[in-house]
Amino acid sequence: MTQDEFKQQVAHAALKHVRDGVIGVGSGSTVNFFIDALATIKGRIDGAVVASEASAARLRKHGIQILELNNVSELPLYVDGADEVTEHLYMIKGGGGALTREKIVAAVARKFVCICDASKLVSVLGKYPLPLEVIPMARSYVGREMLKRGAQPELRANFKTDNGNLILDCRGLTIVDPPRLEAELNQIAGVVTNGLFARRPADVLLLAEPGGVRAIAAKR
Ligand code: 5RP
Repeated sequence: MTQDEFKQQVAHAALKHVRDGVIGVGSGSTVNFFIDALATIKGRIDGAVVASEASAARLRKHGIQILELNNVSELPLYVDGADEVTEHLYMIKGGGGALTREKIVAAVARKFVCICDASKLVSVLGKYPLPLEVIPMARSYVGREMLKRGAQPELRANFKTDNGNLILDCRGLTIVDPPRLEAELNQIAGVVTNGLFARRPADVLLLAEPGGVRAIAAKR
C-alpha cells in the first residue's frame, strides 16, 4: 500500500467515532482524506468547526456547514493528524502551520482522535522540527531563545499562518519531557503556540499499519 492509501484507510476508520452533532476537524493531508470520508455520512452531523481555512474550504465543497467555535458549547469529537506521535499519545503538530487553531479546537473537544500512518509513531519526539507560531516582531528574539535551548530555529519561508503570524521550525531538540517543554516554550514572549501537544494529548490514536488499523487508547 502507498502512504496515501494508509492515510485513506485510517481516515475511514475514524468514521466510527463520529456521533451526531458538531465535529471538530483538524488539517493536513490525512485529514483531507477524513473530510472526504465524512462527506459520505454528512447527513448525520450538524456541521464542523475547523482548525484551518484549507479544511474549511474542503468541507464547504462537500456541502458541510462550518460553524464558529464561539457558537459551539459542546464538541464531542476532534479528529486530526500529527507529524510525530508517541505511545503516550503526545504529539508534534504544525507541519501545515495550523497548530494554534488545532490546539484551541483540541482543548474544547471531549475526545481527540489522532489519525496517522505508522511512519509517524516515534519513541522520542523531536526528529521532526518543532514548529513555533511567533508574532512577527518577536521572530529574532524567539530564535535566540531557542538557540539557548540547543535548537536550530529556521524561519518557514514564504509562509504566514491563518492568524497572520510566522513559523519558526526548530530542529535539534530531544524532547524527553514533552509536557514540561510545552509549558516552558509557551512562556517565551512572542510565542503564540508551540507544536507540542502533550498537556492535551490525543485520547485515541488510530495508526494505519501493514496489518490494518491499530487503535491505541491513552493510559490515563
Ligand atoms: C497541521 C498538522 C497536521 O496534522 C500534520 O502536519 C500532519 O499532516 P499530514 O496528515 O499531512 O501528514 O498538524 O498543522
